[in-house]
Amino acid sequence: SLFPVILAGGKGERFWPLSRQDRPKQFLSLDGSSRSLLQATADRLLPIAGSWESLWIITSSQIAEGVRQQLPELPYQNLLIESQGRDTAAAVAWASLEIKKRYGEDAIIGFFPSDHWIANQKAFARTLSAATQLAASTAAIVTLGIKPTFPSTGYGYIEQGEKIGSFNELPAYHVNRFTEKPNRETAETFLSTGRFSWNSGMFVFRAGVVLKELHTHAPEIIEPLEQQGPDIYPRLPKKSIDYALMEKTTLAHVLPVEFGWDDLGDWNAIERLLKKEETPNVELATHVGLDTQGAIIYATNPEDVIVTIGLEDVVIVRDRNVTLIVNKDRTQEIKQVLKTLQNDP
Ligand code: GDD
Ligand code: MG
Repeated sequence: SLFPVILAGGKGERFWPLSRQDRPKQFLSLDGSSRSLLQATADRLLPIAGSWESLWIITSSQIAEGVRQQLPELPYQNLLIESQGRDTAAAVAWASLEIKKRYGEDAIIGFFPSDHWIANQKAFARTLSAATQLAASTAAIVTLGIKPTFPSTGYGYIEQGEKIGSFNELPAYHVNRFTEKPNRETAETFLSTGRFSWNSGMFVFRAGVVLKELHTHAPEIIEPLEQQGPDIYPRLPKKSIDYALMEKTTLAHVLPVEFGWDDLGDWNAIERLLKKEETPNVELATHVGLDTQGAIIYATNPEDVIVTIGLEDVVIVRDRNVTLIVNKDRTQEIKQVLKTLQNDP
């Protein structure tokens, strides 16, 4: 069996102004369904965990109360609250220590981001059971590899090595190399070889295996946590698990997956999610457009009307007191703008 841990401490800044300090991306429903990204992640993982008792969430203190409200079924002691976000390496280290404490070092743990869209639940469950079998039978850090479709610079890249066997009828491979967020040129080279997949950001391993690897590759994170507990959090380095561990470990394995996946990283993901071939724009608002194409238009207030003339490839978002208008290929820069705004309006 697998103990899933949901990583829910990110800020989701590239979805501002829809995501705000008091209402981060995880709490939003981006596809118009009634469940938020966080709730949808829990819905997906609950049948895999078997019960709420086996499901864990790690998040930051600012949004812990919101997590409780959104998932009232989650047992109190399965919610790990970080006093300050220290990125995912610290989160993985602390949650793995806690699960080992409760279930021993052979407990199999899976880490899952809370900003993913997954199309096929059945195939997802099947892949996770393969990952669980692989982690149970070898000292593997299991990654799930997504077939890349463009030279993204926002993902980790996994170079597939030798096949080591099949699990639940899915082939598993050694990882030759893991490269987090390469530049465009490197990403293009990777893509052209045909040997690389995107890292889905989900990881499966035994508690004892990941803790040992963290001791080898990230002692600056695991040692203080082990010796002094989570009170040490504010003094831990801010590093993602991809840089801290995945680029260094030799135990990485990959299962190529085909369950339909997307990372809902920024407004462009909404387009991939909702765009129907025929429509010129993605409209989540009352929109009157003349000569407008490739626009993503969102308004929180259903009474708002957005009128555009002669626009192409823009994102327009109205939420409460803020209107954002940004070129589609510059949505990554929302993060920078937020740094210059003293207080999130
Ligand atoms: N608890 C906690 N604490 N969670 C965090 C923290 C933290 O300090 N920082 C981020 N998270 C959560 C986010 O909420 C998200 O669900 C998940 O961890 C991943 O963080 P992102 O910030 O979204 O990572 P990314 O998308 O840039 O990159 C990762 O995911 C990609 C696929 O979506 C990497 O693993 C890439 O290699 C991967 O391709
Ligand atoms: Mg992400």
